[in-house]
Amino acid sequence: MVPKGSTATENTMMDKIQAGIKLESADEITDEYKEHLLTLMIAQADSELAGAYGYVPWIEGAPTIAEKLAMANIVKDECRHAKAIYDLLAKLGINVNKLVFEDKMKNRMKVFYEPIRTWADLVMFNFLMDRAAGHQLHDAAECSWGPWSRIMTEIEKEELMHVKHGETWVSKLAKDPEQKANIQKALDFWFPKVNKVFGKGGTQSNQRYRHFKLKQRDNQEVRVSWYDEIKPLLESYGLKAPDINVVE
Ligand SMILES: [Fe+2]
Ligand SMILES: [Fe+2]
Repeated sequence: MVPKGSTATENTMMDKIQAGIKLESADEITDEYKEHLLTLMIAQADSELAGAYGYVPWIEGAPTIAEKLAMANIVKDECRHAKAIYDLLAKLGINVNKLVFEDKMKNRMKVFYEPIRTWADLVMFNFLMDRAAGHQLHDAAECSWGPWSRIMTEIEKEELMHVKHGETWVSKLAKDPEQKANIQKALDFWFPKVNKVFGKGGTQSNQRYRHFKLKQRDNQEVRVSWYDEIKPLLESYGLKAPDINVVE
């Protein structure tokens, strides 16, 4: 699937990466770099599109008219994120129609296979997962592949708005005595699944990604930065944050 045969040399490429010069064209990168880059971008594109599909039923399921528009806007954002990354992949020779229409976005993160069953589920997913995505995208925004890093900087801003939406609703439901148990249940359901998306700390593949500056931090560092934000927030809403080691 990965077109091989790059003539780029490891040394020239690594010199640029270490000097902080962004790589801009396929003839500047080695086959190994390209393979890692494609793995990350395909997982992201498939996850963005699967994420959009997950929110679609909640245009109809939203509890207010204003919320229908908010949901439709999030769906639009996620579709746009997906298209931007698929366009980059197409430029690198990937058959993106196959990824979407034949493979049905099978490279998405596992959490995007979980159905969203209630409004409490939706807003908790929004609170936990969009923030997790934001932390991962932050690493990508600083990555060595120029075209991806520029798009990530834009996407990150929109993800922050999704995060705000999740925050507003989780705090609102947590304050409602009739909804409090439901939102805690949604937290306990989603937490281990979202916590898993960061992957294990200290893996060899993560070291390779960092070598190429496709990632900047160890998986565990990214997980901790996410957890350090959500724990005090959840506690301020009167919810009980699960332990950071609870991973499904
Ligand atoms: Fe997104
Ligand atoms: Fe999002």
